[in-house]
Amino acid sequence: MKQIRFVTAEEAVKVVKSGDRVHMSSVAVTPHLLIHALVDRGRRGELRHVRIQHIHTEGAAPYADPEFEGIFQLESFFVGGNVRKQTQAGYADYIPVFLHETQRLIREGYLKVNVAFIQVSPPDKHGFVSLGTSVDATLAAVETADTVIAIVNKNVPRAFGDAMITLDDIDIFVEDHSPLYAPPMPPISEVEYQIGHHVAALVEDGATLQMGIGAIPNAVLSMLGNHKNLGVHSEMFSDGILPLVESGVVNGKNKAIDKGKMVATFLMGSTKVYDFIDDNPMVAMMDVGYTNRVHIIAQNPKVTAINSALQVDITGQVCADSLGTRFFSGVGGQIDFLRGASLSQGGKPIIAMPSMTDKGISKIAPILTPGAGVVSTRANIHWLVTEFGAVNLYGRALQDRAKLIISIAHPSAREDLEKAAFERFGPHFHFVENGQ
Ligand code: COA
Repeated sequence: MKQIRFVTAEEAVKVVKSGDRVHMSSVAVTPHLLIHALVDRGRRGELRHVRIQHIHTEGAAPYADPEFEGIFQLESFFVGGNVRKQTQAGYADYIPVFLHETQRLIREGYLKVNVAFIQVSPPDKHGFVSLGTSVDATLAAVETADTVIAIVNKNVPRAFGDAMITLDDIDIFVEDHSPLYAPPMPPISEVEYQIGHHVAALVEDGATLQMGIGAIPNAVLSMLGNHKNLGVHSEMFSDGILPLVESGVVNGKNKAIDKGKMVATFLMGSTKVYDFIDDNPMVAMMDVGYTNRVHIIAQNPKVTAINSALQVDITGQVCADSLGTRFFSGVGGQIDFLRGASLSQGGKPIIAMPSMTDKGISKIAPILTPGAGVVSTRANIHWLVTEFGAVNLYGRALQDRAKLIISIAHPSAREDLEKAAFERFGPHFHFVENGQ
C-alpha cells in the first residue's frame, strides 16, 4: 500500500504553474486550505492566468475577486451564491453545460485539467479513500489531471460507489480535519407547505425521487410519511430524506436499477447527512455522467423529478439560470432530470415554485424578461406547481396551457396575464375555459 507523506498546503500548491487549469471539488468538500494557499501565491505575484474550474463551491471564493484579474479566471459550471456578484460583473465566468456533461468536458479533453484539488476520507486497510460528498465531475478531474492534490480529512464520509478511489490516484497529500460545510436548513414557510402539499399529491407509491436542497423539497418530503417503497436517484439529497429512510418509506425496492440503493453525485446538508452516508452500503455516490444521464435516469419507474424556476412564461418556457441578463445559477441538472422523468415509465417531471418572489413580483410572466435563459423549453415541461395548485401542460396547445398556467398564478397577477394572453392569441383565447 502506498505510504502517505503529508506536506503543507503551501508546499502542495507549488505544483500549480501559470496557465494551468485547476479543478476544485464541490460544495461540502470545497478544498479551502488549498484555495487559501493558492490565493496567497496569486497575491505574491507568483502566478498568471490560472483557470479555476468547479461546479459549485461553498464559503469564500477569493479567486473570483476583481483583485485577481489576470491571475485567476473562474470558469464555473454553475453560478453559486459565493461567485454570483463577480460573475454578474464579468470578473468570473460561467460555462453553460448540462450537469451530466460536465465530466465529459473534462474526460474528452475540451477542458484539460492540470491540477485537481480534492478532499478525501482517511485510507482504509485496502488503500482506498472516498471522495465522500463530491464525486460529480471531480472523479473525471482525478482521472485526467496531471497532478492530484488531496486533503485527507477524517470528516469526509467514507461513501461508496464511484466515490472510492485509491491512494495511487493521488500525488500529493495534505492533512486537515476542518468540519465540512453544513448549511442551516431553511425554515418552511406557509407558501412552501402549500406547494409541498400539491407536489406530494403527485408522488405515487414506488416512485423514484429526484429533488434538490431547500424548503420546497423538504416540505414535499415531510408529507410523504405514509408512502411506500420510494427510491432515490438524484444529483443530490439532503436532510429531508432521512426520516423517510428511518421509517422504511424510502427503501429503493421498486427501482429497476440500483435496487435498494440511494444514488446521488454530490451532497449538501447537515452533519446528519454526512454521518448517514458514512460507511453506508445503501448509498452509492456516483459519477455525474451516471446519475444525470437521461437514459440511466429513465430506466427507473415513476421517476418524479422536482425542480424549480426563476420565471415561467404563459407558454411554459422555464427560466432557471438568470434574472433577465443577470446570471443567477445555471442549467444544472434540470433538463437531465426533466427529460429522464419524461422517458421513465409513469414518470413525472415537475417544476415547483412560489407564484410570487419574496419582493412581490409574479414569477409567471407574459414573456420572459429580455435576456432570461430558457433552461427547459415548452416541450420539456409537464407539471407546473405553485401554492395555488398543480397543472399538467404536457400535450396541451398554447392557448390551453396559457389558461392553465394563469390559473395557478398569484390572483393579483391573473388579470394582467389574461390580458397579455388575449393580446397574444387573439379573441379565441377567452373561449378556452380552465384549459378544457
Ligand atoms: N423576477 C425577479 N426576481 C426574481 C424572480 C423573478 N421572476 N424569481 C426569483 N427572483 C429573485 C428572488 O427575489 C431572490 O432574490 P434575493 O436573492 O434577493 O432574495 C432570488 O431571485 C432567488 O429566488 P428564489 O426563488 O429564492 O430561488 P431559489 O433559491 O429557490 O432557486 C433556482 C431557484 C431556479 C435558481 C434553482 O432551483 C436553480 O438553480 N435551478 C437550476 C438548476 C437545477 O434545476 N438543478 C437541479 C436541482 S439541484
